[in-house]
Amino acid sequence: MSKTSALRVVGDDASTTAIPNDLQAFWMPFTANRSFKARPRMVARAKGLYYYTPEGKQVIDATAGLWCSSAGHSREPIVEAIQKQAAELDFAPTFQFGHPKAFELASRIAALAPNDLDHVFFCNSGSEAADTALKMAIAYWHARGKASKTRLIGRERGYHGVGFGGITVGGIVANRRVYGSMLAGADHLPHTYNREKQAFSKGEPEWGAHLADELERIVALHDASTIAAVMVEPMAGSTGVLPPPQGYLKRLRELCDKHDILLIFDEVITGFGRLGAPFASERYGVTPDLMTFAKGVTNAAAPMGGVVARKHVYDAFMTGPEHVVELFHGYTYSAHPIACAAGLATLDLYRDEGLFERSKALEPVWADAIFSKLKGKPGVLDIRQVGLTAAVDFEGWKDAPGKRAFVAMDKAFHDEGMMVRTSGDCLVVTPPFIVTEDDIAQIADKLSNVIDATVNPS
Ligand SMILES: Cc1ncc(COP(=O)(O)O)c(C=O)c1O
Repeated sequence: MSKTSALRVVGDDASTTAIPNDLQAFWMPFTANRSFKARPRMVARAKGLYYYTPEGKQVIDATAGLWCSSAGHSREPIVEAIQKQAAELDFAPTFQFGHPKAFELASRIAALAPNDLDHVFFCNSGSEAADTALKMAIAYWHARGKASKTRLIGRERGYHGVGFGGITVGGIVANRRVYGSMLAGADHLPHTYNREKQAFSKGEPEWGAHLADELERIVALHDASTIAAVMVEPMAGSTGVLPPPQGYLKRLRELCDKHDILLIFDEVITGFGRLGAPFASERYGVTPDLMTFAKGVTNAAAPMGGVVARKHVYDAFMTGPEHVVELFHGYTYSAHPIACAAGLATLDLYRDEGLFERSKALEPVWADAIFSKLKGKPGVLDIRQVGLTAAVDFEGWKDAPGKRAFVAMDKAFHDEGMMVRTSGDCLVVTPPFIVTEDDIAQIADKLSNVIDATVNPS
């Protein structure tokens, strides 16, 4: 590998189509690096619903990037806000100092969040948000004089990013297996998926609310006096769209109240309209004590994440001498001015274009298109859908778990001009809210094509 990499120009427009000759230096995240570098799925530009390859080929973004570019790509008001902010105030520390847009954005997010989720702590990603929420929960009980409450309870098949806190409460074996003992004292609720009982449910399955009662078993084992918090995604996205069983989240809330345990919702993908409401907690009528967000808050045009805390959590910290820091936690780039400007422009765009309402109105159209096109196809084992998300499980190839979905994802990109995600032998689609009914029909057709094209191992 050479340490310098020349840029090769393809197409007509050198500014957007220069691509490197050497792909070795970038160690790509959550990627099969050798396969990618042998046959890259490269995009150089994006606008609205589409990515464009360096050669100029259009690719439908059926994943809203990584469930994050919900208003479509390179939207003018967000681009302008970022440009203006970079020229006006590129950076300001938020440790002991402040800048106006941080406060403005916090107020806007608090206003969108249900109930008394009123206080917003900023960080830069969903992983940081998850670890921040977990630390807040432990520190909260310390502040309340119950310092033995430190245990963290997650759920199997949960994803809370890649920090040590997040992988400890998370339940994806590949993300945990090689990282040693992680944090001490965590435990897990069972996941809520059961194909036999739930297959081909549209929206939230009827079966499974009783699985929340497993928290009683965990409390009986460890005692509530040792448990700080339960953290779950209202809808588990990363392991293939697992909508909560009807009534499950309400039951979890009741049990957390009964045992004086904080409830944390990780709304990194469900926040900002993905399930047709500003946050999933509103869709489900359940208010957590802490709620994480990231991704859609800036339409992914700048990195940002955060945690929204209920009033009682924030108030527990606001004691002691007034010159002393109340929470020893924060990031250099917490409430970065450029991310705040992007966030404000994004929230305006969601409001002005009614995009959360659009996401809600499209849900039945989306569900019908995916189910009518794919249910009943040979080898399709299950389809799950909620809000503008869907996952299709299919029979994998013998002795090669996940390979069929990997090949289907690659074919979707190269042959069908569509970006999809995989999770085991499952394809996941989560389009931007700007999709039209025609776009939805196209996405369903293209999914069907790649499922057909991968029936036999290639
Ligand atoms: C529920 C949830 N939490 C946390 C994360 C981690 O976010 P990030 O990749 O921004 O660290 C994700 C990412 O997909 C997520 O889905």
